[in-house]
Amino acid sequence: MYTSFDETHLEKIVRLLKSHQSKFLSGQKLSQSLNLSRAAVWKYIKKLQSLGYKIQSRQNLGYKLVSKPDYLLPWELTDGLQTDIFGRKIYYFDTIDSTQNFALRLASKPYENGSVVIAKRQSKGRGRLNRKWISPKGGIWLSILLKPNFEVWQVSLFPMLTSLALTKAVENVLKLKPRLKWPNDVTLNDKKVAGILIDASIESNKIDYLVIGVGINFRIEPRIVSRLLKNSQKFYGITSLVGNKEKADSVELVQEFLYELEQSYYKVMSNNLKGITKEWTKRSSTIGKNVTVSTPSGPVKGKAIAIDENGALILSSKGKIQRVLAGDVSYRN
Ligand code: BTN
Repeated sequence: MYTSFDETHLEKIVRLLKSHQSKFLSGQKLSQSLNLSRAAVWKYIKKLQSLGYKIQSRQNLGYKLVSKPDYLLPWELTDGLQTDIFGRKIYYFDTIDSTQNFALRLASKPYENGSVVIAKRQSKGRGRLNRKWISPKGGIWLSILLKPNFEVWQVSLFPMLTSLALTKAVENVLKLKPRLKWPNDVTLNDKKVAGILIDASIESNKIDYLVIGVGINFRIEPRIVSRLLKNSQKFYGITSLVGNKEKADSVELVQEFLYELEQSYYKVMSNNLKGITKEWTKRSSTIGKNVTVSTPSGPVKGKAIAIDENGALILSSKGKIQRVLAGDVSYRN
């Protein structure tokens, strides 16, 4: 595990090398700036190289950063992160059972509001409705822990707010136009590219804590994941946000997403959510379609006409209006 608060030497070396990009930085300068021995600097350089940083080292010249890995290492994420609360602490794992489970365990500790847990791979990723979530290398698997002073009804806003924040981040950073499938799937060409899972603990009608889990098929091989999911219920196909060889920076995408989501979080806090449903609807592929929603109490059919300010789906069928809070949508023609 690497964190944003323990690895200060690695973080400082990366920043110094970045600020000297394309030039060599002498080992002596590095060791002076960090107050470390030359041998210790060398040890950290080796560590960074093993993490995927390409660093040239030349006798008499020092070190030069050639490229960084496309992993969501904590110090890469904090470098340029424009949030105050989200990502104040970042935990990074090469492999973990589920970032969601780790974040849930953090909830009992102090000073963890806004902590972000990220993994390169998950061995037991969890999806909505107790489904499994296949989480190979190349995806973005993260959970955000919040311990806000919210009312229970405010939690139901988070699937909508999170999927919207992610969509905006994808638009801004990758210049793609994903769509939103109610309640919280993000799609590209009608296939799923990201899903959201919210776990909440409620005590005497107040939110004790909330964990927002986000799974993004960032740079994965859709065929491999599809094969593993084909027989699962409600599978409508998955795709990858970017292609295998395409140039795209997952760090920038996560930074932008955390920023957008934090803005929404402030809006919930100040009860200023005007315009959110409009923004969601604008990007929705669900509104206007004839749908079947499988809900815990059976299927509900109708035309999706709107989502309300709590994120519920409003269906109209034979002049009757129905409000659905949770379920899986399939489109009918
Ligand atoms: C869905 O079913 O659409 C929601 C999928 C959520 C997956 C993410 S990946 C990061 C976090 N950790 C988990 O185990 N699940 C969520």
